Amino acid sequence: MTALLEVEDLRVAYGKIEAVKGISFTVEAGQVVTLIGTNGAGKTTTLRTLSGLLQPLGGSIRFDGKPLNGIPAHKIVALGLAHSPEGRHIFPRLTIAENLQLGAFLRKDAAGIAQDIQKAYDLFPILGERRAQAAGTLSGGEQQMLAMGRALMSRPKLLMLDEPSMGLSPIMMQKIMQTIAELKAQGTTILLVEQNAQAALSLADQGHVMEIGNIVLSGTGAELLHDESVRKAYLGED
Ligand SMILES: Nc1ncnc2c1ncn2[C@@H]1O[C@H](COP(=O)(O)OP(=O)(O)OP(=O)(O)O)[C@@H](O)[C@H]1O
Ligand SMILES: [Mg+2]
Repeated sequence: MTALLEVEDLRVAYGKIEAVKGISFTVEAGQVVTLIGTNGAGKTTTLRTLSGLLQPLGGSIRFDGKPLNGIPAHKIVALGLAHSPEGRHIFPRLTIAENLQLGAFLRKDAAGIAQDIQKAYDLFPILGERRAQAAGTLSGGEQQMLAMGRALMSRPKLLMLDEPSMGLSPIMMQKIMQTIAELKAQGTTILLVEQNAQAALSLADQGHVMEIGNIVLSGTGAELLHDESVRKAYLGED
């Protein structure tokens, strides 16, 4: 069986600076795969390239059997790849309901969209309670929930989350991680970028450690959690 996402020898540069230097990994349908690594390792660059927001310098990306190279971002969303970006980027003046609607901008099935908005409210009840409120009034964690809910509105085959726990309190972080586990249990395929290696590896099927543009170590979530070098570098142990 071929993987849902196949990334091979992907290279991405900003001008002369090569931020991703030839990485390869796959995501199988139903898996949670995580990319962890230090600041500036190239994790966000990788996700932005998969989304079509950056053009690769080399390598290939195949999604659901099709090459993605050169396909514009909106068509990539239509193929089933959704991206909840680093920093969330919700629309602060629009209501929560309007933000969710925008996540379905490519869809025309009003009844299905309404159903999926309800699903987002079931997943994150606070969003339902505040549905008519401007999204900018939500707390950071609630905005993260909205960004995840919005990405799910395209009914993606693969959901990419960039640092969903960034800047959140421990309780809020736990809630977001629980939701990712819940999405996984429902069969959602997820590519998760996280600074919180412990949390990400605990729920990932596969993990890859990135350092300055390269994948330096790969394994199952459990393998990496128990790897000595990972424990020292990312889990604060010595
Ligand atoms: N727009 C840009 N122009 C030039 N260089 C950039 C740009 N965006 C990122 N970079 C550089 O590319 C490298 C990889 O950045 P990237 O944002 O992908 O890292 P990251 O792994 O997501 O880091 P973090 O954990 O801090 O979010 C860094 O050295 C960064 O400074
Ligand atoms: Mg980043």
